[in-house]
Amino acid sequence: MAAGIDDVAIYIPRLYLDAADFANARGLDPVKLQKGLGVSQMAIVDANQDPACLAANACLRIMEKNNLSPDDIGRLYISTESAFDESKAMNSYVIGMLEQVYGQGSFEHCGGVETKFACVSGSYALYDNTNWIRAGEAEGKSALVVVSDIAKYDMGSSGEMTQGAGSVVMLLNDKPRLLEFDPKVTSTSIKDEYDFYRPFGKETPIVHGQYSNLLYMIQVRKALEAYKKRVVATNLIEMKEGETILDHMDYINMHLPYSNMGKKALAYLVRHEWRQLPRWKNILEQIGTEEPIPKDPRGTIESVLGDEEFMAKDHEFTKMFTKTQEYQDVYESKLSSSLIASSMIGNLYTASLYLGFRSSLEFEYQKGVDLEGKRIGFGSYGSGSSAMVFSGVVQPEYEDIVKSMNLEAEIGPRRRLTWSEYEDLHENKLTPEESKMHTKKEFVLVDVKTETESRGERRYVFTN
Ligand code: CAA
Repeated sequence: MAAGIDDVAIYIPRLYLDAADFANARGLDPVKLQKGLGVSQMAIVDANQDPACLAANACLRIMEKNNLSPDDIGRLYISTESAFDESKAMNSYVIGMLEQVYGQGSFEHCGGVETKFACVSGSYALYDNTNWIRAGEAEGKSALVVVSDIAKYDMGSSGEMTQGAGSVVMLLNDKPRLLEFDPKVTSTSIKDEYDFYRPFGKETPIVHGQYSNLLYMIQVRKALEAYKKRVVATNLIEMKEGETILDHMDYINMHLPYSNMGKKALAYLVRHEWRQLPRWKNILEQIGTEEPIPKDPRGTIESVLGDEEFMAKDHEFTKMFTKTQEYQDVYESKLSSSLIASSMIGNLYTASLYLGFRSSLEFEYQKGVDLEGKRIGFGSYGSGSSAMVFSGVVQPEYEDIVKSMNLEAEIGPRRRLTWSEYEDLHENKLTPEESKMHTKKEFVLVDVKTETESRGERRYVFTN
């Protein structure tokens, strides 16, 4: 049975921190953020928002847009790494909010859980729900998979310039208008690592930034190797001599902790794929030097990062490689449109990959590209660490969905924060009543109880 993404909706907080204001306050060159990282604005949650109400707002949008009733939804999964409870799953909060609109008990038989594996858990949730549909268990119902996160780092840390927040929801069913997933090729890699993690009770993560960048690329590459084997074994794609699997992906969506990480990761994957092909000779001739090799080619990630001479040479080589016309063609045609939303919104952890997918559809369609039949490859990464590579094909009815996509309109009118407003919000100094934005027809957080017997209970309302 076919299964895939029928529609996508987003909810992005309208408050934002401008990259120039951030650089100014932190004494950084704004070009580092804008050009070095590809960050222009970072969405910041208001004092009356949390990842559950971002998720509920996205769910309401997709349900209203598709005239869905709670009976149409068999499962609602939430993937997040911004959980605020160690036991009560975030989908129960979201169902509580949705029932304020659809009626008490209306989602009574909608199963689901909250899933966790840093930024990759949404991809596992998508895969599991796709298989629920493929197995015939859905019996005509749809699943909602919501990825919702607040990417928040310590004040003054190097991660602080890669923050953001938002939620993406995907409606899955057996007659997807947008994207049908390729069967039996989804591949993963996993390794016990400490590149980025958030111990119990800590609101912000502990991050080893450069380590996490390299690990991301290594893990996705390993998952891609496994994906290639499955593609060949299942005859999904016929690979000819001198070709790489990437030649058969019309689009490549990568996990985007910041927009330029997509560029970096694509360059890494393309380099490793092309290295084995006749076309590499021409690339090396253009660059004018052999690829640098670390002093200890079989060493650990730490030893590679510690090999300063290699790192500098490799950085230079990558820069030259990304300037070749051959790489530029791949970048422009397969990746660039997916990065636009990320630079306007920032990191969404679990939702970053899917915001990129949404961005790619909208901006490629605007270019006038006919997307029907195009194969989209996904490179998902979650710290800790696991990667997943999978693919799907854009369906003939895609235009029904994509023609009305409008990122700016869907975000709504934004408000640029002053530095002191940002500091107050970041340090949780404001109560929900002191929120900055006036909201209409949205779920907001009104109270978190502090009494011993009810500590942590949250109350939400739907604003009129
Ligand atoms: N003008 C132009 N460019 C500049 C510049 C300037 N003045 N100064 C620096 N740059 C460039 C650098 O050359 C670099 O470009 P390359 O990537 O091409 O080398 C880029 O700007 C960033 O500079 P640095 O690498 O020096 O930046 P940094 O070390 O201070 O911080 C970071 C970058 C490591 C990503 C940090 O922001 C961080 O720790 N972020 C959080 C962790 C993260 O996002 N990791 C990503 C992988 S893990 C993951 O994906 C999970 C997740 O969602 C977090």
